[in-house]
Amino acid sequence: MCGIVGYIGAKDSKEILLNGLEKLEYRGYDSAGIYVLKKAEEGYLFKEKGRMAALREKVDDSVKATAGIGHTRWATHGAPSVRNAHPHQSVSERFTIVHNGVIENYQEIKDAYLSDVEQKSDTDTEIIVQLISWFVESEDLETIDAFKKAIVALEGSYAIALMDNQNPDVIYAAKNKSPLLLGKGDGFNVICSDAMAMIKETNQFVELMDKEIATVTRESLIIEDFTGEKIKRAPYTAEIDSDDFEKGTYPYYMLKEIDEQPAVMRKLLLKYQDENNNLTVDQAIVDAMLESDRVYIIAAGTSYNGGLVGKELIEKMTHIPTEVHVSSEFGYNTPILSEKPFFIFLSQSGETADSRQVLVKTNALGHPSLTVTNVAGSTLSRESNFTLLLNAGPEIAVASTKAYTAQIAVLAILSEVIGIEKGLINKGTMLHDIGIAANAIQAIIDDKEKIESLASDYLSTSRNAFYIGRGMDYHVALEAALKLKEISYIQTEGFAAGELKHGTIALIEEDTPVIALVTEKRVAGHTRGNLQETKARGAHAMVISMEGLDRPEDQIVIPHVNPLLSALVSVIPTQLLAYYCSLHRGNDVDKPRNLAKSVTVE
Ligand code: F6R
Repeated sequence: MCGIVGYIGAKDSKEILLNGLEKLEYRGYDSAGIYVLKKAEEGYLFKEKGRMAALREKVDDSVKATAGIGHTRWATHGAPSVRNAHPHQSVSERFTIVHNGVIENYQEIKDAYLSDVEQKSDTDTEIIVQLISWFVESEDLETIDAFKKAIVALEGSYAIALMDNQNPDVIYAAKNKSPLLLGKGDGFNVICSDAMAMIKETNQFVELMDKEIATVTRESLIIEDFTGEKIKRAPYTAEIDSDDFEKGTYPYYMLKEIDEQPAVMRKLLLKYQDENNNLTVDQAIVDAMLESDRVYIIAAGTSYNGGLVGKELIEKMTHIPTEVHVSSEFGYNTPILSEKPFFIFLSQSGETADSRQVLVKTNALGHPSLTVTNVAGSTLSRESNFTLLLNAGPEIAVASTKAYTAQIAVLAILSEVIGIEKGLINKGTMLHDIGIAANAIQAIIDDKEKIESLASDYLSTSRNAFYIGRGMDYHVALEAALKLKEISYIQTEGFAAGELKHGTIALIEEDTPVIALVTEKRVAGHTRGNLQETKARGAHAMVISMEGLDRPEDQIVIPHVNPLLSALVSVIPTQLLAYYCSLHRGNDVDKPRNLAKSVTVE
């Protein structure tokens, strides 16, 4: 996590850095800071705890400088505070650094070189800048050589930008595991964790790869690897519409993104249709999946929950056995793989470090992989064999909504195409069924006032809550619980309805909210029975059912859709319940505490 930016050109760098960091706030918002260098030995450092708005207040507007670096932080080592906010400086204040990532051997470096150096923060980052300074002073190295020597000594993940106050004409950068882009302009150059941060300045970007170092001036970008070999890499054009990042009249991005879901479904259907109006995906992906004997879905958080639904779709439509794994576990607890595994990485951002470490391993083993992501050109997309894009538009709210439903729709399309190819499905219906689901989503969104009042009746004062369901509804219960807990801070569990009575029912007290999802005919009666068991113990019970299975007393009835796609629709009221609950509690819906959107540390 954390986001970094740098600018070197002719304009006021302070404003460009602040604007860029505002775009990167989704990567962390515990603290932020910038350093601008006006001329040799005239640098200005501004840091503040909390959001970017607080940093803006603190920055002295009269300072004008044409080069600088900035950082927005999600705390790893050291509490969120001004002391631990980046940029960090060497004791002499000659060198200033920003860093995204985690330095695993920081203690060893400290012991080996810096035992006499007074540390000014509790971060792992600070040792990098102190080490560079130490090499310059103790070994009489030039800055670039000290930078390279320090970088080679680091173990862990990093995207780094360094400035030397004796040279306002250069920014040094390095990358390993954490993303870093170099942006090219006319008479200026930039660096950033995500193109979104600098899209107002340029749309021409060059990726820095792992274990590469860059020297960035106003006129040039020089890239080299650790052996000093120069690397030539052509820029690509980032196709980002800066209007997509605006909230418009919405109070929060999350509500905007919930509302966008019907349009996302329709856009996906257009993107994955051929000239005969049949759903289609790249034949190479179909062939690779047909070759395989087992699919492994790797993901984290909401994407993992999307993967659970994906497993059902793949198994039911293609008959290929499918496993879903939490990426942070898979890397260390790797199951016995089948003979011909095919890996699907589900990731909104395409940058999740836990998932990437699995991809690095599966690539080393030579297994084919597909990334399903919202971000073209993201690390997971670049490093896997195939990519399917979610086409959901930028998802800014930390709580994922439209990416989850887009993941399900893309996996449904993929499954149907393969099912047809295998002769398991005669005539595809997903084009029609996803369209129907889009209308159903719209109908729920149009009735959101009702859900707002249910959120206030059921959830606004509760300490804990449960979502329960069976089969597909259980998968949605997990996602519904994650959504509610992450933005309302109500301790919420998603539970297999039948499992509740084996222990967890002990937690049910007078007025504990228990929300049952009932969209599957074969288990509807059982789930309702399990809900009754909680009611008998005082639970404040709510039912979200699907038309055809509904009862008059149900609080929310969603329109009928193809049961394979029920998750696409049943999740919508749960997103709205979470949104309104968080709103009523006065939380920052888009930026819940302790979280960041893109989790680029393991
Ligand atoms: C929750 C949420 C997270 C992400 C998870 C994986 O609302 O957004 O749980 O789903 O951090 O992120 P991606 O999908 O970018 O790999």
